[in-house]
Amino acid sequence: MPSKLPPVALAPARHALPFTSPWLLAPMEGVTEPCFRDLVLARNRADELGGAFTEFVRVVDEPLPRRVLREHLGDARFAQPVGIQLMGAHVSALAETARRAVEVGAPLVDLSFGCPAKGALRGCAGSALLREPAAVERIVRACVEAVRDRPVTGKIRAGYDDDTLLEDLARAVEAGGASMLTVHCRTRAEAYCDSVDWSRIARAVAAVSIPVCGNGGVGTHADFERMRRETGCQLAMVGRAALGDPWIFSGKRVESAEAARFLLDYAERLIASGGAGTKGAAARVKQLLNYWTAGALVAGTRESWLCEADPRALFDRLAAAASDANR
Ligand SMILES: Cc1cc2nc3c(=O)[nH]c(=O)nc-3n(C[C@H](O)[C@H](O)[C@H](O)COP(=O)(O)O)c2cc1C
Repeated sequence: MPSKLPPVALAPARHALPFTSPWLLAPMEGVTEPCFRDLVLARNRADELGGAFTEFVRVVDEPLPRRVLREHLGDARFAQPVGIQLMGAHVSALAETARRAVEVGAPLVDLSFGCPAKGALRGCAGSALLREPAAVERIVRACVEAVRDRPVTGKIRAGYDDDTLLEDLARAVEAGGASMLTVHCRTRAEAYCDSVDWSRIARAVAAVSIPVCGNGGVGTHADFERMRRETGCQLAMVGRAALGDPWIFSGKRVESAEAARFLLDYAERLIASGGAGTKGAAARVKQLLNYWTAGALVAGTRESWLCEADPRALFDRLAAAASDANR
């Protein structure tokens, strides 16, 4: 009599990562929409910036329409892939949204388990899931199965209040079948504090065999390689430092005119796309100016830029700085 074998949990298929370099632009809500993202992608070669992500796309209890997913992905295509990032807790709604995202052209789907916003926590999504590795695994697995022929990746923080579940979370993302794990090395409780503990990234690297992308505290171009060297991660992702210096991936030092041109282009694209009016575009430019380091454009004058109340005056000042190079 043939012995009765226990059911075998098949390991979900993993896919090669489509990134063109190990340095990635982090998903950032309110920032990495197509206008900003495309400008960054256009200014860094594919062997410098390896890929980017949409801002998180919130899935509640219904799959999102394809139209919404197309809007997040944008129209422009670059050599570098732009992954769509989904956040939610409803397994089947997430899986069907992931399937639709791939259907409309997403080269990969990233799942966010790190958002500390109150809205996400209320919906038991984002970093709320950092207390439940089993739920993380279920979500990843359902999306991997729904997507099949494209990579699914997962992005976690080091933990909720502390980092004790870090290895369990990393293994949950791997067990679900993800092709890459991104570890933002701060816990939810640490929010965006200045100090970072990269040894947590090294712990995740030791816990799993899939590629790990380190994240948190990359401030300069040299930090990418330093993070890789110190933690063993294969890839590294930068968030806020890229808001201040979109050339951080190449390490190129731009003049202030080129830096001003970036900000003007950003404002023009926001207005032309209908994504913001003049006032809204000025506010978005100021959001970048808060972080801005490129081209010494705001060195010693940041406050005066941020205090510019009249959008037109702000844009005129940028235009004057941008034309400096031609004098
Ligand atoms: C304005 C802003 C928006 C963010 N939105 C997202 C998001 O949509 N999805 C996500 O996974 N992380 C988001 N993050 C976190 C970043 O992706 C990144 O993990 C974090 O900023 C740490 O990297 P850094 O130290 O290089 O900034 C956001 C961060 C900032 C500053």
